[in-house]
Amino acid sequence: MNDSSSGAIGVFDSGVGGLTAVKELHRLMPNENIVYLGDTARVPYGTKSKETIRKYALQDIEFLKKYNVKMYIVACGTVSAVMTTSPVFDGEKLYTGVLLPAVQAACAATKNKRIGVIATSATVKSGSYGKAIRAIIPDAKVVGKACPMFVPLVENGYTSKDCTVTRLIAEEYLEVMKKEQVDTLILGCTHYPLLSDIIADIMGENVKLISSGAEAAKYAQAVLTENNLLSDRKENGWLKLFCTDSAEMFSENVETFLGKSTNYTVESCMIDSAE
Ligand code: DGL
Repeated sequence: MNDSSSGAIGVFDSGVGGLTAVKELHRLMPNENIVYLGDTARVPYGTKSKETIRKYALQDIEFLKKYNVKMYIVACGTVSAVMTTSPVFDGEKLYTGVLLPAVQAACAATKNKRIGVIATSATVKSGSYGKAIRAIIPDAKVVGKACPMFVPLVENGYTSKDCTVTRLIAEEYLEVMKKEQVDTLILGCTHYPLLSDIIADIMGENVKLISSGAEAAKYAQAVLTENNLLSDRKENGWLKLFCTDSAEMFSENVETFLGKSTNYTVESCMIDSAE
């Protein structure tokens, strides 16, 4: 195995949401080593200023650098949307955010060119999804809706299909998507796939849901393949999960995202928060 291909895939998010990308990465490429950072002490990012989000993201990347990372995945919709134009990575490493892969999948899926984007306030405010969609389909109608209550609901485990409070909130948020008759809905925040049962139920079977985390994982597989960087390890790779707050609390959520059969370790860590 050459040295570069033996490196890990480094993934980060503000919390547990990015595990939707990890789940898909592990399913597609079980032999890869994956290191994940969930910045649980500072979640949510989506209500913070651009400057703060950028500062946090750079610190998250700095932490991951210790793990011989061959590709970074910004599994946070907010960071991906707010920092699309910022050259934050050293030129040598491959990286992807979740925005472009999700947009490409949505543009391929839509038939009526009416695409909805649900995400955090910072993501919707950035306008980045609309810009990226219209770069592919210039006359697309893009409907954005911030759903700030979804992240705390997911982080607190209110994800089951029959959770009345989540359903009520989701109905309110999604009303505009139904009114605008979108046929494709991007879950632009990586926490939201945990609510996909409820969202799918409300939107109906004719609306295609796009998980930004899962699309980023597929995209990463294509990029690693293209660059001849897939691991040729025969056995399963390791999955190291780090969080910046209590590992116990984080672990409770991890199982909901990854299921019982995945092997992983969870550790709490300090990230360098020096200015
Ligand atoms: N998973 C993050 C995102 O995709 C969570 C949002 C947040 O931290 O506010 O945006």
